[in-house]
Amino acid sequence: MTSLASSAQLDPVDESARAALFTDAHTANAFADIPVSDEQLREIWSLAKWAPTQANFQPLRVLYVQSPEARERLVAQMSEGNRAKTLAAPAVAVLAFDGSFHQHIPTVVPHLAHMKDSLEQNLENRVLTARNNAWLQAGYFIVAVRAAGFAAGPMGGFDAAGVDREFFADSEWGSFLVVNIGYPAEDAYRPRLPRLDEEHVLAFA
Ligand SMILES: Cc1cc2nc3c(=O)[nH]c(=O)nc-3n(C[C@H](O)[C@H](O)[C@H](O)COP(=O)(O)O)c2cc1C
Repeated sequence: MTSLASSAQLDPVDESARAALFTDAHTANAFADIPVSDEQLREIWSLAKWAPTQANFQPLRVLYVQSPEARERLVAQMSEGNRAKTLAAPAVAVLAFDGSFHQHIPTVVPHLAHMKDSLEQNLENRVLTARNNAWLQAGYFIVAVRAAGFAAGPMGGFDAAGVDREFFADSEWGSFLVVNIGYPAEDAYRPRLPRLDEEHVLAFA
């Protein structure tokens, strides 16, 4: 094999990485009483930020809710079944899309700087693009939490309009997912639910 051919080949990640990121990784519902530092929360983002997005738009925003007062305000917006674990989690991230993401286009997509103006004129397309791509980034965010050595507890059960009123009143951020973060407690995991067999999912044309 020539050096060019071998340099084009990507190494699959090993079994322990596959287990940590996928096969053994679970949604956590309870966490050990061990804090997560700001440095560790930044490290999670330093991985998640590499997610691919449409034209490199990067509409995801992350609010780490830290003060006890802010945590109470968030918990009040969570659905009943999500309250206790959100109150107790060592760290909590609110994931939001930024409806004004287009303001950054000249920086993050300099060769398509004109798209800033076209998206400025089209709110519907802007919000749809922001939502879709922020969701994709959210998937990477969960994997980044795992890659940094923590467990993630993503939750869609909350009043998004209420969270937006509480935390994002002065911006165009729109919350869509809350993620508890920490080291898993012994009783963190529910039994694994089955995944669809590939016959229901895969097609080859
Ligand atoms: C978008 C999304 C929303 C979710 N919302 C909730 C929720 O509100 N409350 C909850 O307890 N779990 C919630 N979950 C957790 C899922 O139920 C869990 O990820 C799924 O059952 C797979 O579990 P596993 O990772 O342990 O295999 C959510 C997960 C995702 C990705």
